[in-house]
Amino acid sequence: MKGKIVLITGATSGIGKETARGLAQLGATVVITARDVQRGEQTKQELVQSTKNNNIDVLFCDLSSFTSIRDCCREFLKRYTALHVLINNAGIVEYHRRESKDGIENTFAVNYLAPFLMTNLLLDMLKKSAPARIINLTSGLHSGTIHFDDLEFNHSFSGMKVYGHSKLAVILFTRLLAERLKGTGITVNCTNPGMSATNLSRDAGWFSAKFFKLIAKEASIGAQTPIYLASSSEVETISGEYFEKKVVKKINQETYDMDAAKKLWDVSNKYVGL
Ligand SMILES: NC(=O)c1ccc[n+]([C@@H]2O[C@H](COP(=O)([O-])OP(=O)(O)OC[C@H]3O[C@@H](n4cnc5c(N)ncnc54)[C@H](OP(=O)(O)O)[C@@H]3O)[C@@H](O)[C@H]2O)c1
Repeated sequence: MKGKIVLITGATSGIGKETARGLAQLGATVVITARDVQRGEQTKQELVQSTKNNNIDVLFCDLSSFTSIRDCCREFLKRYTALHVLINNAGIVEYHRRESKDGIENTFAVNYLAPFLMTNLLLDMLKKSAPARIINLTSGLHSGTIHFDDLEFNHSFSGMKVYGHSKLAVILFTRLLAERLKGTGITVNCTNPGMSATNLSRDAGWFSAKFFKLIAKEASIGAQTPIYLASSSEVETISGEYFEKKVVKKINQETYDMDAAKKLWDVSNKYVGL
């Protein structure tokens, strides 16, 4: 990965941090985003020390704010002249309905609209840098169909349902983007990292969060497929797929619904103001 520039969202903990570490170990220039400046700096120092790679940078980005995402992308484009790998890693599970800085249900905003906006803002740079790759973190808990009549779960909110819905949106975005990027030299895939002992369940209460960490695998194991998708020559021409444990997996029919994907894309454009 020497000479490659990688941008990873939400790399201050869990799978994102381990993905950053793995790619830095492979020699990439790794730019991480953090919603807390201090945590971002600490993570950068930790990664530099553990990988002996000085080419690690940090950008501030609160993914629950479209303004912050736009500022972050602007800053990235100011600092760098290429982007070879974009990893939309950051994600949340929230058990109570909250709203983003833009007044949108927060899980939908952070898990789906944020990567949608960030990817679109960085697409020209990815095209110029091709061959390039986009990797979106989804989950095995993706479920159902897109709730076009209530995308923000104003009615019948449930943390896991809303999480699964946001991750289905990520898969549909991945498949349609892959179709639209054919011939550009950019591939886009998504991956379920598997149950990993991270801070993802921080909102679930002390007992559930502890239990989750006990039964899950280490975050470094969850990072293996994102690292593979970012770096392996085996996947350089594969696009629009869902990966688990480094292998393409055929999943439920709803995730191949291109009409829903197109409809969602149009609604998303309106949400993010593109
Ligand atoms: N862990 C699992 O079992 C599992 C399973 C399937 C899929 N996934 C997916 O894997 C990805 C990584 O999750 P993880 O398990 O590593 O969770 P994690 O340890 O909670 O890490 C999430 C990262 O996202 C950042 N983040 C959260 N909200 C943000 C916001 N508003 N703005 C900017 N950054 C924000 C966090 O920052 P802070 O450090 O500031 O909190 C952190 O760096 C997620 O997309 C998740 O859905 C995880």
